[in-house]
Amino acid sequence: MTEKVLISGGTGLLGSRLTEILIKKGYHVAHLSRSKNKSTAIETIVWDVNQMQLDPKSIEKYDYIIHLAGAGIVDEAWTEKRKKTIIDSRVNSTNLLKQAIAVNQKKPKAFVAASAIGFYGIITSEHIYTENDQAGKDFLASTCELWEQSSEELKGFGFPISKIRIGLVLSKHGGALKEIAKPVKFGLGAALGSGKQYMPWIHIDDLCQLFIYCFENQKSAVFNGVAPNQMNNKEFTKTLAKVLGKPFFLPNVPSFVLKLILGDRAQLVLEGSRISAEKVKKDGFAYQFEDLETALKDIYKAN
Ligand SMILES: NC(=O)c1ccc[n+]([C@@H]2O[C@H](COP(=O)([O-])OP(=O)(O)OC[C@H]3O[C@@H](n4cnc5c(N)ncnc54)[C@H](OP(=O)(O)O)[C@@H]3O)[C@@H](O)[C@H]2O)c1
Repeated sequence: MTEKVLISGGTGLLGSRLTEILIKKGYHVAHLSRSKNKSTAIETIVWDVNQMQLDPKSIEKYDYIIHLAGAGIVDEAWTEKRKKTIIDSRVNSTNLLKQAIAVNQKKPKAFVAASAIGFYGIITSEHIYTENDQAGKDFLASTCELWEQSSEELKGFGFPISKIRIGLVLSKHGGALKEIAKPVKFGLGAALGSGKQYMPWIHIDDLCQLFIYCFENQKSAVFNGVAPNQMNNKEFTKTLAKVLGKPFFLPNVPSFVLKLILGDRAQLVLEGSRISAEKVKKDGFAYQFEDLETALKDIYKAN
């Protein structure tokens, strides 16, 4: 019988690609969304996270739940109101799923939740963070900690729960790479700030496969969702320029310029440490794209 996967936030960058891959693999996929999109053929269940409304019966038939929903981290300035939206959209949505699962007789077979490498704190250091490291102290770290704790509370139901601390997702269709590539495509590529901050990245297809790996193998674990070979900002931008056939010679963009443009969010591009991919590799997950040049060549290949 066809197995059914429900993806919250399935309309987003990651969810859209995951949907394509799952359908190709023979799964039935549905999205849990704040609105019905008439232009998609994907079955959509509507929920209202603000009002904590979701019909439990509407999600009972799904074998697996992948929880990606959350308000964009970089889309808007981090005002107190926006920070609350960023946290509530993640924690309350998990709680809403928990409430629905609690009253349903048929429980999912596994649950996989998104988290982010922001869990460790946005700092530049020589430490390579593993899943055993503690959460950091800044806003994103606290957000990720609360987000992960909310899915931890689903453990009482007995099915396996995995959490994936996602790095910078590389996709041609959106997300950070699209923004980073814009100046590079105009021949204006330059390192940001010191250029020494690390940028732990992952090819979108490897990340989708990691989510699938977790539920298909009934994993109950926390994994970093990053590629094994990481580079600092300068090396990353240089590699991107090379793959796009563009020059890379300009001086670094000063930190204060980025702070003026992005405010608090500038730390997302100005700071970063390496994040280990050892645990998931040892577990048996096979990456398709381990190094940046191969990943970028695949992303920008003509098709
Ligand atoms: N892309 C990355 O580089 C990256 C890195 C680290 C972590 N992550 C995390 O991974 C998850 C998926 O990433 P993504 O890049 O696919 O994100 P995305 O493109 O922004 O999609 C997230 C989805 O969440 C739903 N959503 C947005 N605001 C919401 C709100 N206020 N309440 C409830 N749902 C809301 C939306 O679906 P509907 O409009 O259909 O409701 C949206 O399509 C996110 O939680 C993100 O924080 C992503």
